[in-house]
Amino acid sequence: MTIDSREVPAALSSRPRRLRVTERLRALVRENRVSAEQLIMPHFVLPTDRAEDPIESMPGISRYGVKDLVQRVLADAELGIRAVLLFGTPPDGSKDERGTPASSPDSAVARAVAALKQQVGDEIVVITDVCLCAYTSHGHCGVLRDGKVINDETLPLLRETAVAHAEAGADLVAPSDMMDGRVAAIREGLDEAGHTDVGILSYAVKYASAYYGPFRDAAESTPAAGDRKAYQMDPANVREAIREARLDEQEGADMLMVKPALAYLDVVRAVREETSLPLATYNVSGEYSAVKAAAERGWLDEAAVVRENLGAMVRAGADLIITYHARDALQRGWL
Ligand code: PBG
Ligand code: ZN
Repeated sequence: MTIDSREVPAALSSRPRRLRVTERLRALVRENRVSAEQLIMPHFVLPTDRAEDPIESMPGISRYGVKDLVQRVLADAELGIRAVLLFGTPPDGSKDERGTPASSPDSAVARAVAALKQQVGDEIVVITDVCLCAYTSHGHCGVLRDGKVINDETLPLLRETAVAHAEAGADLVAPSDMMDGRVAAIREGLDEAGHTDVGILSYAVKYASAYYGPFRDAAESTPAAGDRKAYQMDPANVREAIREARLDEQEGADMLMVKPALAYLDVVRAVREETSLPLATYNVSGEYSAVKAAAERGWLDEAAVVRENLGAMVRAGADLIITYHARDALQRGWL
């Protein structure tokens, strides 16, 4: 018997390609969409009024002084970016063993929150990262003794930091330290200070990832010695993600996060199926910079890749996406 490739099957009734014929048809049957309302833009704030300092390892991203940050956020709001996540840098020479400058009422983050809230009110959701690593002399996310990060001694410091951000006017605080019990400690601190309406977006599921490399340059938060594997999660684990998510929900988290995003979309899906809380995923610095670097060399079509990546996060079950691509995606019409 000879196989004739020109032979047409008599009755091929099921043809999925029928719905792919035109862009109009494809749009009509598209299952998932990414919208501007889901995006959260991260920012790095410097402890000064005026500054714009490009981050070499993150093309297109700069660290801003408080006033320049406000200008940037206002301009981005015109594009439709209505939520920001703020990371701070302490004044030169102020880092110490316990990360004291993190909870200062006039930290860069606290000043930026106050300035933003004064300018934009409730038009923009202001979220603050709560951690100590940018403020400790050793660069770890908690109190360090004999090379170990001491969980329970770190909790009051995180709590004070979250309260300082709430006092400045933050809508949500986002603890990224991975200490056990920190959501409960922060919730209690916020409530006792009268901030019952300030929510917690917990970095519930945060892996010890190599994709944070460019961020650590930007935030100057690389540990001086050792790594974060004794507190951040092992990339091999997914059942543990469910355990972390449940604990944070029980402790009073209002939203959960899985971080990083792209290499962990199975985890996003698994957590999505376990919780009814809104779920965010963090498209981290290394994921951003890898796309940028390849695009700069002409090796990838940046628009198409960013659309595909953000779309994959939504398809996996993310309600919100924290991404450095937010501005480009909206300004250049990539969604
Ligand atoms: C600090 C923190 C990190 C990120 C967010 N908060 C780095 C780390 O844990 O080492 C990573 C963000 C990114 O890579 O974009 N706790
Ligand atoms: Zn940290």
